[in-house]
This record gives sequence, structure tokens and C-alpha cells, in this order.
Amino acid sequence: MKKINQRQVEFDCEDIFPKRWSPRSLSPEVTKEDLMKCFEAARWAPSSYNGQPWRFVYAINRTPAWDILKQIPNEFNQKWALNAGALVLTVSRKTFAYKNKPNIHYAHDTGAAWMSFALQAEMQGLYTHAMAGIEYEKAKELLKIPEDYEVLAMFAVGKMGSKDSLPQDLKDKEAPSQRKPVSEFTFEGVFQADKPEEKKDE
Ligand SMILES: Cc1cc2nc3c(=O)[nH]c(=O)nc-3n(C[C@H](O)[C@H](O)[C@H](O)COP(=O)(O)O)c2cc1C
Repeated sequence: MKKINQRQVEFDCEDIFPKRWSPRSLSPEVTKEDLMKCFEAARWAPSSYNGQPWRFVYAINRTPAWDILKQIPNEFNQKWALNAGALVLTVSRKTFAYKNKPNIHYAHDTGAAWMSFALQAEMQGLYTHAMAGIEYEKAKELLKIPEDYEVLAMFAVGKMGSKDSLPQDLKDKEAPSQRKPVSEFTFEGVFQADKPEEKKDE
């Protein structure tokens, strides 16, 4: 079976999936048009009751919006993400527009929209890198995000940049990651919880 990006494919899916990965060496060339095509892809994600809970706040490098969004990645992520072409904050509405009823699938559906964005970006020759390491409360304050919306994550977008833009520790880690085998997360008609992790020697 094929190997893509140093990733051994087990079953013959389309190349775009193993091809997508999250580099930290990103370069700042991203246009608004690039981003809008990716948001268009995100737009067509499926969602519970077609509620479309995803909201994206974006900033392109060297614009006034960048000065706001660049404050949101934590110290670790600022080391690499501020070289990117754009930062996008992923926010989700936790309620449906209809009577403000709770939407328990908001994170599920917003995740689907982010992935559509990421795959469209990949097809445009751009890279995305998501971040959980962000200042959530600061993001809410800076952008005046109300209580019925949740800040889920942020992601950086860019072309592949030079590894030399990274500090040495990140340079050493800059490679596509591997995955569990398909058999570890798919079960025919039964559920199997993960086995407890084997205790590693100190
Ligand atoms: C929700 C989410 C949060 C993540 N948070 C961070 C982060 O804070 N910093 C970071 O460098 N990478 C972060 N990552 C990147 C993951 O480590 C990466 O996606 C994972 O190792 C799989 O590698 P790949 O995307 O290259 O296939 C995050 C990814 C996701 C989806």
C-alpha cells in the first residue's frame, strides 16, 4: 500500500487525507481570497438541524485585525504561529437559533467545518495548524464573545515556510505524525474501550 508524507496508508483512501499535516514552519503569504475559498468549503459542512453553529474570526498578517488575534495564542504557540499568513479563531454557538434550545452537537459540527477548511486549504497548497494552547478568556474579552458561544480553538494558515524560522526544539519535531491502526478505533457491532496504558519505566 502507498506511503504518503512518510505515512503508511493501510487502506486505499484518497491521498488528500494522509497528505494533510500541520507544520509549524508557515510563511505569511495568504490572501483574503484564499481564506474565503476555505470558508466556502467550511460552509457546506453538515450540522444538526442544519444549525451551522461554527463562527470563525480571522486576521491576515500585517493587518489591523492581526494586532488583536496575535494576542490569543499562548506563549508556546506564539513562537511559531505568528509567522503564519492568517490566524483563525474557531467559535461555536452552543444553542440553536430556534428558541435558543441547547445544541449538544455544536462542537461536533464545528469540528466538521474546520476540517473542511483544512482540506480545502490543502488543495490550495496551503497548510493549517490548529491550537488548543490559546488564551480562551482573553479571546472572549478581546472579541466580546457572549456566553452562549464557546471559543473552541484557533488555527494558523500559511504556505510552507522555512524550518529556519523555528526554534531548535520545534525544528527537530517538524515532521508528519503517525496514527493508530484503523483496527484500534473501529469495531464491528461492539464497543471496545482502550486498554489501560502500559506503565512505562521511570
Ligand atoms: C484541536 C487541536 C488542538 C491542537 N493544539 C495544538 C497546539 O496548541 N500547539 C501545537 O503546536 N499543535 C497543536 N495541535 C496539532 C496537533 O498536535 C496535530 O494535529 C496532531 O499531532 C496530528 O498531526 P497532523 O495534524 O500533522 O496530522 C492541535 C490540533 C488540534 C486538532
